[in-house]
Amino acid sequence: MTRKFTIRDIAQLAGVSIATVSRVLNHKPDVDPQTRERILHIMDVHSFAPDLSAVQLAGSPSRRKLSSPHAFPPDFLWGAATSAYQTEGAVREGGRGPSIWDTFVREPGTTWHGETGDVAADHYHWMLDDVALMKELQLKAYRFSVSWPRILPQGNGPINACGLDFYDRLVDALLAHDICPVATLYHWDLPLALHEQGGWLTRETAYAFADYAELMARKLGDRVSWWVTHNEPWCSAYLGYGIGTHAPGIRDFSSAVLASHHILLSHGLATERIRAHAQTEAHIGITLNLTPIYAADESEATQQGVEQLDVLHNRWFLDPLFRGTYPEQLFNNLGVAPPAIKNIDMQIIATPLDFLGVNYYSRSLIRTPLRTQHYEPVVPVPEASYTQMAWEIYPQGLSDMLLRVQRDYAPSAILITENGAAFEDSWDGRGHVPDKRRVRYLHEHLLELETVLKQGVPISGYFVWSLLDNFEWTDGYSKRFGLIYVDYITQRRIIKESGRWYAAFIKEVTATN
Ligand code: FCB
Repeated sequence: MTRKFTIRDIAQLAGVSIATVSRVLNHKPDVDPQTRERILHIMDVHSFAPDLSAVQLAGSPSRRKLSSPHAFPPDFLWGAATSAYQTEGAVREGGRGPSIWDTFVREPGTTWHGETGDVAADHYHWMLDDVALMKELQLKAYRFSVSWPRILPQGNGPINACGLDFYDRLVDALLAHDICPVATLYHWDLPLALHEQGGWLTRETAYAFADYAELMARKLGDRVSWWVTHNEPWCSAYLGYGIGTHAPGIRDFSSAVLASHHILLSHGLATERIRAHAQTEAHIGITLNLTPIYAADESEATQQGVEQLDVLHNRWFLDPLFRGTYPEQLFNNLGVAPPAIKNIDMQIIATPLDFLGVNYYSRSLIRTPLRTQHYEPVVPVPEASYTQMAWEIYPQGLSDMLLRVQRDYAPSAILITENGAAFEDSWDGRGHVPDKRRVRYLHEHLLELETVLKQGVPISGYFVWSLLDNFEWTDGYSKRFGLIYVDYITQRRIIKESGRWYAAFIKEVTATN
């Protein structure tokens, strides 16, 4: 393309008026989400750069720059993240046992077009190439998850040496490239055999998890010093056991709170075991998905809604981990009795963390319509932009949430273990995947991060979700989050524009440290 694209070209390609394109460029709310998405997509594909005079970008954070000198410390972990089931594939290879996701995805209607993680990004076979790409992206750290059923096909009992060997080789390859491994022990793939014995509804699973954690600490703890016990236990408990949209697909709030209790217990038990058996100094934490909740009006119903949703989305896990208690309203709000809690449990759960992992994607805004008593989400938010997941892009939510966590819970360190966005990327068949909206998303969030670092919040690292396009759970392969595009037909990898941008960003920041 030699000729520069104009707004008129974009309008023609999208089959809309110039005024509609202009409304999208100016973040006006009254364009329906599909049309907005189509227009933005066409802009991306044609690397369309609007004439600034046509767009009210003044004050837009992505035009802001890092301060000089910037606030990121020299040992900051600049990374990207993946998880086993979403990326590895090879589900029946190398002695791996089945997990709850292997069976869940086979139930009709659970995933987009019935897609599964059987092959995913085939990282199990592409691992060395992928580590070389991490190096090309200038990554200083890589967050991956260990597949429990690849290590212990039955969840406990016989160890699968071939599975251990895979992570052994991964860790060695990372270290050979000076990339710090950050290992997550549970990213939702419970061994099916344990599920059949009650899964997270039984205490035994918590003890089985602690044994597995000890095993991993013994095997990798000479080289891995950053450990995340669980990824987003809220999703495991609420989505998996409460509303059933994730594996194992159970719909019962009593089960959700019971599962959450055993997951938290397993975290505390595992923390002690990793600390006792890792040979290097271990930093042990847990990753929570946190969603700041905002009120769009001052009505009492809205204020109550903010509190309720905050309990559900944030305090359910923050309170027990940092205060050793569940929020009082949790069980009432869910309409259930508290789970059976043994005396010692809350103390185990509140075992001090070395860091808190925070996954941040979006916020929630609620309002109460006039003459009603019930709050509802504001969707779409006027003036807002959305990702392909229909998640509002709200970078300020990251800093608001971090400042709040710091004020109310004061973790000794924080890792942003996931942040990123899905857009409809397309590859030009050669070497180019234009994804300016992802660049903008990342840049805006990183600027927020710098702001809170300057305010003294102890953030030790930032991980883009995701290194590679991968299996996005119930959305299958329809949502791409990667810094690297994966052509699923050939498994060819193509670094997206955002990947190149992130590499340049890391290079610049680390050069001026
Ligand atoms: C998080 C999950 C991760 C990925 C992103 C988009 O909730 O931890 O596996 O699916 O969302």
